[in-house]
Amino acid sequence: MAFATRPFVRAASSSAAAATAAAKKLIIKHVTVIGGGLMGAGIAQIAAASGHTVVLVDQSDEILKKSTKGIEESLKRVTKKKFADNPEAGAEFIQKTLKNLTTSTDAAAVVHSTDLVIEAIVENLEVKNELFKRLDKFAPEHTIFASNTSSLQVTNMANSTTRQDRFGGLHFFNPVPMMKLVEVIRTPMTSQKTFESLMDFSKAVGKSPVSCKDTPGFIVNRLLVPYMMEAVRLFERGDASKEDIDVAMKLGAGYPMGPFELLDYVGLDTSKYIIDGWHSLEPNNPLFAPSPLLNKLVAEKKLGKKTGEGFYKYK
Ligand code: NAI
Repeated sequence: MAFATRPFVRAASSSAAAATAAAKKLIIKHVTVIGGGLMGAGIAQIAAASGHTVVLVDQSDEILKKSTKGIEESLKRVTKKKFADNPEAGAEFIQKTLKNLTTSTDAAAVVHSTDLVIEAIVENLEVKNELFKRLDKFAPEHTIFASNTSSLQVTNMANSTTRQDRFGGLHFFNPVPMMKLVEVIRTPMTSQKTFESLMDFSKAVGKSPVSCKDTPGFIVNRLLVPYMMEAVRLFERGDASKEDIDVAMKLGAGYPMGPFELLDYVGLDTSKYIIDGWHSLEPNNPLFAPSPLLNKLVAEKKLGKKTGEGFYKYK
């Protein structure tokens, strides 16, 4: 009898434990995305498309108009593929998604009812900390804050708020609607409940989350950025043209994009911030050495696809 009841007791207690854990998790319904650029617009799009109510925030209505137009165009591309046989369902999907999405230029005014704030503004620690510190005063107690930073310390940002346990990283990839990965970053203070809520949210927006500690570059960029910088150095030395380097890595390594195409896609300013930050942490690491050519292009505001010119021209 004891043998018969033990598995039952174990099963009952483990399902009770799972139920308690699930009850504790925050089900994220309302999301505020700060920054309507390349990444923020994509994050807002997938969150709205998966049934969340979303407010997208940026500094001006003009920027937000551009973000919304970009989202509409992206949704049209997505639905063309997804609803190829049923254009009416596609139109309905776009309509529903756009209904879930509103915009604002006043972050403090819109975070009062949000479950999750995702920050996707400029890659600058001081600016991000200032934003989080301010929003901490206006967001409800339960609200989780997350940064989409590529290279900055999430722990540092969490420390600018009073909600260190409700703070983590949600690192999406560009283009957000297409790329399946999200790196969910756990600082030493991120609670289990927050971590699980962020993992669940990532799955709810259709992504495959992986988790990583708060270490420079997390998983993907720690491997990818030194590779791209080495490509720039190869080109700077005149060893090969950027076109040939791109062709070589696509045809020889099977990469979908060459390193210069990828740099233009990511944004040269973002790449410069990353490498400058790592260089200041480890000045003697040759993998993190700044590039005069990258610095020159950024100074000339040639930031890649988003400005129409980077290593290549897109006009
Ligand atoms: P972006 O330059 O395209 O967009 C940033 C947006 O934030 C701009 O529209 C700007 O007006 C807005 N902004 C700046 N300060 C603001 C503030 N205080 N309040 C509201 N809006 C503000 O930059 P992008 O590429 O979208 O990057 C955003 C973040 O995502 C950065 O932290 C970057 O490191 C990270 N990231 C970028 C990736 C990429 O491939 N570009 C990939 C993954 C993460």
